[in-house]
Amino acid sequence: MVMPRKAQHIDICLNEQVDSDIDYWTDITLVHNALPEIDMDEIDTSIELFGKKLQAPIVIAAITGGFDGATDINRNLAIGAGRVGVGMGIGSQRAAIEEPEMAGTYDIVKGNNVPLMIGNIGAPQLIQQGDKAAFGIDACKTAMDMIDADILAIHLNFAQEIGQIEGDTKARGCLEAIRQVASELPVIAKETGAGLSKDVATRLKDAGVRGFDIGGMSGTSFSAVEFHRAVRDDNSRLKRMGDTFWNWGIPTPISLKTADVGLPMIATGGIKNGLDVARSIVMGASSAGIAKQVLAAAMESGDAVETELRLIISELKGAMFLTGCRNIEELAGASKVITGITATWFEGLGGMG
Ligand SMILES: Cc1cc2nc3c(=O)[nH]c(=O)nc-3n(C[C@H](O)[C@H](O)[C@H](O)COP(=O)(O)O)c2cc1C
Repeated sequence: MVMPRKAQHIDICLNEQVDSDIDYWTDITLVHNALPEIDMDEIDTSIELFGKKLQAPIVIAAITGGFDGATDINRNLAIGAGRVGVGMGIGSQRAAIEEPEMAGTYDIVKGNNVPLMIGNIGAPQLIQQGDKAAFGIDACKTAMDMIDADILAIHLNFAQEIGQIEGDTKARGCLEAIRQVASELPVIAKETGAGLSKDVATRLKDAGVRGFDIGGMSGTSFSAVEFHRAVRDDNSRLKRMGDTFWNWGIPTPISLKTADVGLPMIATGGIKNGLDVARSIVMGASSAGIAKQVLAAAMESGDAVETELRLIISELKGAMFLTGCRNIEELAGASKVITGITATWFEGLGGMG
């Protein structure tokens, strides 16, 4: 039997090299404070995001739903996120809107006290794609109700769509469609690995979104994921596309500057540990977003997800202690040095660092 596309994505992310070639986060160094003058146990990592209290500035980024194996993954993620008190996004809910019997692979997240639950719909699905009808506001409401979502992420994934046989590459009208949804529902815009420029962030803010998931380059590359699918399908055109666009996009730490138009920003893309979470806060994020780093644990159990999240929070606390920061607000102002290619990016953008 052919593996469903969403199952292939999981399999590839677990078993193949799918990261961008460069880890931009390692260019951000927090300046060590040898005399922190605080006690580790007084550190408070909690934040408020979209009106909800999180115990740490962490959101599990959208991963999956819509095939049988997704049920366990989503349950495990929700158990972990609920126990630790961090936010969680769900994978694209398109499958359950097109086939309502798939709803169980998503709504399994309910009842786990996840403090911030984020629904997910693709911007390409908000407009007509060939003979595929556009999702309207009712579909978006259905998606939110399905998982008791607090806010809906509308994802922008055209870099992925160009690498798929079945890709939705009509993009005209997306901004207007987002505006219409945002006029009735709480919406954030989310990239999926290629980041947000100043111009895009400004247009989305004008369209009424309440925040962003930056979804920048530095971690999982969907061109890489589609490259591996093309290898498995022996599709030479898409293999070439995936290879060529493997490192396409605005690096996540850079996008935190370009997309800073005064709205909350979740920094997703290459966050691998609590030091990266700290780096993202220092670079202007409201919260970090993590997908691939929690995936192996999500395949295992809710306990494993909880353990991984607690490890990440210990590392975050370590970074806060060693920079003398008692809370996330202080961490946001901690001293940093930006080096390497990330510094070059900032120079190219006119020294926004
Ligand atoms: C297996 C997998 C499936 C994903 N599916 C979605 C999705 O349905 N919707 C979405 O907005 N992002 C999706 N993403 C993108 C992630 O939310 C995130 O933006 C990206 O993986 C970068 O984060 P990372 O480097 O921590 O993996 C998916 C990621 C993975 C690994």
